[in-house]
Amino acid sequence: MPGLLLRTLRGENADQRPIWLMRQAGRYLPEYRALRAEKGGFLALVYDSAAAAEVTLQPIRRFGFDGAILFSDILIVPYAMGQNLEFLAGEGPRMSPRLVDHALNGLQAVPERLFPIYETVRQVKAQLGSDRTMLGFAGSPWTIATYMVAGEGSRDQHDTRAYAYRDPSAFAAIIDAIVGVTVGYLCGQIEAGAEAIQLFDSWAGSLAPREFEKWVIAPNAAIVKAVKARHPHVPIIGFPKGAGEKLIAYARETGVDALGIDETIDPVWAARELPVGMPVQGNLDPLLLLAGGDELDAGTTRVLEAFADRPHVFNLGHGIGQTTPIAHVEQVLALVRAWRR
Ligand code: CP3
Repeated sequence: MPGLLLRTLRGENADQRPIWLMRQAGRYLPEYRALRAEKGGFLALVYDSAAAAEVTLQPIRRFGFDGAILFSDILIVPYAMGQNLEFLAGEGPRMSPRLVDHALNGLQAVPERLFPIYETVRQVKAQLGSDRTMLGFAGSPWTIATYMVAGEGSRDQHDTRAYAYRDPSAFAAIIDAIVGVTVGYLCGQIEAGAEAIQLFDSWAGSLAPREFEKWVIAPNAAIVKAVKARHPHVPIIGFPKGAGEKLIAYARETGVDALGIDETIDPVWAARELPVGMPVQGNLDPLLLLAGGDELDAGTTRVLEAFADRPHVFNLGHGIGQTTPIAHVEQVLALVRAWRR
């Protein structure tokens, strides 16, 4: 029988709730910090498939989560499209040349940069029990484009939003190119063993409604359609962070199977307003997980109760923070594991 997570993503309302956490492999784990130091950096770790598979499995061994998310990064796609990628300590990612002042067709694609990622998926899958689900992922085109255009992360995606208004056809060409590479990349992950996929749209919340339709909904719909044409039974989770009430249109129009929601969404609203029967994933505040205490139990219970009547995957509203105490993760896990509908 498929694992609890996969069954829930397919729409089953099991008694027990599956759980995994965004960024569950990472710096809050001492075993991650040790392997990263040994390999000499984040990208070195991603490109060593055996080490990346080990990092993917670390949180499964420690906590027994229902899903193992591939250890990689959303910025591997622009790296394969020919941009340089560096992770500067304490400053985050840097891409060059920036598309704000360099034409897309000046980039020389390097598709081999995707191959070691597929190897990581194969190695994880070979070691993962059949009751656990292997999750692949990619960034959504809008979020990827914000890094490609600006060359780095930014608070409100100012440069990229301005670029998209100034030159919508050049921007559409960037989005289309990302869609094309992402479809191949996701199918590659599925063919290597990924059983479900998450599309991360971390900066979806900065767009005005019409731009949200153009740069979030339409390209995600194109990705879902193309991946489903080749792999109709692999569930796709869409996570348009910050989308607010635009989640309803996103859920209806993209074709995703399940919806990831961030911590700004009231789970009671989500349970009532999102399409009937659609699995929802989320949405404990990562800062409440960091804080701990009785409030953490109360917040966890609120999320569990809100989704009593629909398929629900317990998760955070965004990635786990690097200073989160391991004991707080164990506290949430115990509550979620003991919960029954
Ligand atoms: O969830 C997981 O455990 C799987 C692996 C994963 C990583 N990044 C590992 C990572 C996933 C799914 C991502 C997605 C990702 N990467 C997103 C979308 C989700 C989100 O968090 O909004 C974004 C926007 C990125 C881009 C990115 N990668 C940034 C901005 C940074 C630097 C910020 C930071 O935390 O240092 C990264 C680096 C990164 N990606 C780390 C990890 C574990 C930290 C690298 C390190 O060890 O120093």
